[in-house]
Amino acid sequence: MLTSDDIRQRKRDGRKISSLTAYDYPMGRLLDESGLDLILVGDSLGMVVLGHPDTTFVTMEDMVHHTRAVARGVQRALLVADLPARSYLTPGAALANARRLVDAGAGAVKLEGGTGMRPQMEAITNAGIPLMGHIGMLPQSVREEGGYKVKGRSEAEARALLQDGLAVQEAGAFAVVLEIVAPETAHRITQALEIPTVGIASGADCDGQILVTYDLIGLFPWFQPKFVTPKAQIASAIRDAVAGYIEETRRGGPAA
Ligand code: KIV
Repeated sequence: MLTSDDIRQRKRDGRKISSLTAYDYPMGRLLDESGLDLILVGDSLGMVVLGHPDTTFVTMEDMVHHTRAVARGVQRALLVADLPARSYLTPGAALANARRLVDAGAGAVKLEGGTGMRPQMEAITNAGIPLMGHIGMLPQSVREEGGYKVKGRSEAEARALLQDGLAVQEAGAFAVVLEIVAPETAHRITQALEIPTVGIASGADCDGQILVTYDLIGLFPWFQPKFVTPKAQIASAIRDAVAGYIEETRRGGPAA
């Protein structure tokens, strides 16, 4: 089983970190057997498996349930679970809920925010729970932010993001996600931090990359982010298989 220290070490060794999301046992097991470094039970499950419009609907109960399922399938990768919206409003709540995710099988937890989240981040790391930060576009604040917009385009925003990255590092996190950060700013943050940056739509210069697996394999055909080039078309494969089965059944074809 890879540890948070192994992930941190990747940056020192100059080895890129590969990571994707999983929400259930088969996907966790398939991703793990494929050799990924890090598997995230992301609160993106709110959209891609629970059918909500954004991640703010996800509860701790949802996260515990899906983390347990994924954990049953993961033997090698570091398993990280998201603390959902409103589950870390205070340092005490952050720690209590991080413990619930660890009890469900997570090897680390992730929360969104930079300088303003330092007390919550420290409550978690001081208790010995490995923490991954998440800065840039924060999906749990999508309504306040008015959409999924690029962060760090202006010099002022780039500096603020750098301060967020440093706060995450100083709070003891082992890595930080950079979401929809302008590539030149992501590069700058990556150069400045000792901990690895794991980018999503933030350019190629991060220390690793993460994507929502359903976007990568074409399993959520109703929305395809522009920054992802799918490497498979699983939704089409399902539709074709089911159409074939319907036709066969109506023809009175094989039942077994
Ligand atoms: O919830 C999620 O899937 C995430 C990643 C995309 C970083 O936070």
